[in-house]
Amino acid sequence: MVEKMSEFRFEIKARDAAGRIGKMEVNGKKLETPAIMPVVNPKQLIVTPKELEQMGFGIIITNSYIIYKDETLKEKALEKGIHRLLGYNGIIEVDSGSFQLMRYGGIDVTNREIIEFQHRIGVDIGTFLDIPTIPDAPREKAEDDLKITLERAKEAERIKEIAMNAAIQGSTYPDLRIRAAKQLSEMNFEVHPIGAVVPLMEAYRYRDLVDVVIASKIGLRPDRPVHLFGAGHPMVFALAVAMGVDLFDSASYALYAKDDRYMTPEGTKRLEELEYFPCSCPVCSSYTPQDLKEMPKEERTRLLALHNLWIIREELNRVKQAVKEGTLWELVDERARSHPKMFAAYKRLLNYGDYLEENEPVTKASAFFKISEEILKTPVPLRAKIRAERVRRKFQNTLEHPIFGEIPKYLILTFPFAQSEGEEDFSIKRPTKEEAQLYVQAVAEYQFGEGASEAFKDVFVELSRKTGMPRQIKAKGQHVATFRADDGFLTLGIEGAKRLHAILPYPRMRVIVNDDAEPFAKKGKSVFAKFVIGADERIRPYDEVLVVNKNDELLATGQSLLNGRELKVFQQGLAIKVRRGIEK
Ligand code: GUN
Ligand code: ZN
Repeated sequence: MVEKMSEFRFEIKARDAAGRIGKMEVNGKKLETPAIMPVVNPKQLIVTPKELEQMGFGIIITNSYIIYKDETLKEKALEKGIHRLLGYNGIIEVDSGSFQLMRYGGIDVTNREIIEFQHRIGVDIGTFLDIPTIPDAPREKAEDDLKITLERAKEAERIKEIAMNAAIQGSTYPDLRIRAAKQLSEMNFEVHPIGAVVPLMEAYRYRDLVDVVIASKIGLRPDRPVHLFGAGHPMVFALAVAMGVDLFDSASYALYAKDDRYMTPEGTKRLEELEYFPCSCPVCSSYTPQDLKEMPKEERTRLLALHNLWIIREELNRVKQAVKEGTLWELVDERARSHPKMFAAYKRLLNYGDYLEENEPVTKASAFFKISEEILKTPVPLRAKIRAERVRRKFQNTLEHPIFGEIPKYLILTFPFAQSEGEEDFSIKRPTKEEAQLYVQAVAEYQFGEGASEAFKDVFVELSRKTGMPRQIKAKGQHVATFRADDGFLTLGIEGAKRLHAILPYPRMRVIVNDDAEPFAKKGKSVFAKFVIGADERIRPYDEVLVVNKNDELLATGQSLLNGRELKVFQQGLAIKVRRGIEK
């Protein structure tokens, strides 16, 4: 029997919108997020856990309550452990019976009993017995239920010996969701599911889903992975990841299959209405809809379940690729067109401007595509407008941009102004030698904030002989900064960092590190999150920042993977990719 204290880690690797690609590690098993856990019903295996493992699903979820209630399964689980019971080597998460509580009204196990059982059968991630309060429950009921959930959380925290889910409840009351998330954040848990959202998704109430998820995310500490309990339809993946969801689970791949329903990223089809398969997974390339319709039920169910799994995997990969490329908003916008209720949810999400802006990277690998009117309300163009307005107060020359309207002339090389595509083409004139320095100053003001242009008032800007674009920025023979060709932002050299440090009032653009990290940062080594003791809250993902010690002495400059709030909270993973230390 495996009985040891669990090891759990979660760190961010890349991001887009409020979504992230993360690295999770439980008991030595690694998982890239966002990830989906297929639900395994230990009493009825349509697709075996071994097959799921071979398809590349590194995590599955099953129900410890179902095992606990079945004498044979219970005995076997206690004897062999859950991994051998299921024949699966990846990460096994289990639910607690809470869902049965919501659906059928009662269960006969206590919080303590189910937690101890989960531990004894060797699960990787357990779940205590939270109380899912259905949407639109009376306020008082939601409060009473939440009180019990939080008491059970306290009990779980005392007795748990494994990584554990602490579900956020609070029905459809945003303030309750925020309160639940805040309280659970202060406790020792590893993953936070957002609970009782299945009824919202079943009723296509995606707009309300957005309110619930965002409230929960606002209350939660940002370094904990978030699981959207019961979300397993590929049509919600892009939207949910854009909100900051890291984990999904799907029972629907099997439930839908039993009901002859076929999943697509745009919605669900009934097998009987399909003449063609819009998919080329192993199932859909070997059979026609007609073949499946003529098959015995059991065989058909299995094949539909396999297709559903392939399509889930494919859509999740598409979402992850979009995060890497910086095109997640485009994907969300596209997916929103597949159902009016999804479109409503997208528009609702765009109302949470502050939350979204705080998490949005300042630069991306891809150009901004103006594919709709709605996408103009995503953080990149909104932020660009606000920052450009600030620059315009200092640099009055403007030009007309086909997407962004009147913008300061000297920002035309910088993201997203140059790196954008709309219906109309526009041409970018290269700066003249005389004006090149003004471009650099305007970008400094846009990138680092009010007053930053002062740091570049005496610089000389080299223009690339090949492209005519600004390249190296120098002063008195020293390298100050580099004008980045791909996004028109500045990468600081040490001289540039010193100048900004002298001009920008503390704590503007600062990341403060402890004494342990100081010698490493000075030598140009990257800074890990656990060494960060403070940060400017206005820092955004991928900003170029100043690394300082607690006396505000400059140590290094580099690119932050995290925003200001995250920098203060994260204890794992990289925080600043240092480009230069003062000693190197
Ligand atoms: N499965 C679906 N929703 C929930 C929930 O709110 N809590 C738990 N524990 N499991 C769920
Ligand atoms: Zn298919």
